[in-house]
Amino acid sequence: MSFSNKTAVVTGGAKGIGGACSRIFYRENANVVILDTDPQGQRLAAELGARALFLQCDVSKEAQVKAAMEKAVETFGGIDILINNAGIQRYSTVTETSEEEWDLVMNVNLKSAFLCAKHAIPQMQKRGSGVVINVASVQAFISQQNVAPYTTSKTAMLGLTRSIAVDYAPQIRCMAVCPGTIDTPMLREAFQLSPDPEAVYQECVDMHLVKRIGTPEEVGELCAYLAGDKAAFFTGQAIRIDGGLGITIAGSKKE
Ligand SMILES: NC(=O)c1ccc[n+]([C@@H]2O[C@H](COP(=O)([O-])OP(=O)(O)OC[C@H]3O[C@@H](n4cnc5c(N)ncnc54)[C@H](O)[C@@H]3O)[C@@H](O)[C@H]2O)c1
Repeated sequence: MSFSNKTAVVTGGAKGIGGACSRIFYRENANVVILDTDPQGQRLAAELGARALFLQCDVSKEAQVKAAMEKAVETFGGIDILINNAGIQRYSTVTETSEEEWDLVMNVNLKSAFLCAKHAIPQMQKRGSGVVINVASVQAFISQQNVAPYTTSKTAMLGLTRSIAVDYAPQIRCMAVCPGTIDTPMLREAFQLSPDPEAVYQECVDMHLVKRIGTPEEVGELCAYLAGDKAAFFTGQAIRIDGGLGITIAGSKKE
């Protein structure tokens, strides 16, 4: 697979799953634009090389997204691939969630994907083709306690994925990637909220049929495959990459 002369924009591309996407698309010869609030993205871009550009950008803010997409086009001549990956996790039920917290999760996880698509798709149309990949979650299908805004935002991403796929076909394809538990800074921070992080880690391992959690690189490789020509018959779908998480009836799998 080669993305020579193509430009991929990766939101939340400084670390975690987005960091892996940045590295993998770069390895596959794409120009890579890392949009992130974390200045660590600058180090990654410098490490990758001349085809990588870091832009500090809060992707939940339209003016910043518009300016970043314009800079990407000015630097590399266009946009071909958008990975809407930036996201945050918060833990609360509906009755515990403040309006501000609800809006924050929706804005970072969902509105950002709308805004980035809004400003990247016209650039893809100028090129005659493009791919949008929304990083959702298995929590678009199954849920757990205390994740009301998060699971809602991830479920809504599937609707956004279908809308983009329908509205811009056949030139532009759009898919959602739905990871199970992936070993990233976000996950490690979540473990630290527990008095026994090691026990929570083991619970996560045990939930997956493959008896481990996933790596950011596994998700990044899937994104690269879906963005490539070999995946040209995929559009509008949500693809789970989850080690079999949540497909068993509770208690049905004996050790
Ligand atoms: N780690 C998991 O187990 C898991 C599972 C399913 C889905 N996901 C999803 O995958 C995506 C990446 O998660 P991760 O685990 O790599 O998280 P992470 O926290 O390790 O990395 C997320 C990146 O997004 C950036 N970011 C956050 N808010 C931003 C904003 N407003 N503007 C720009 N950048 C912003 C962060 O600075 C960070 O670099 C998220 O959408 C997350 O919901 C993660």
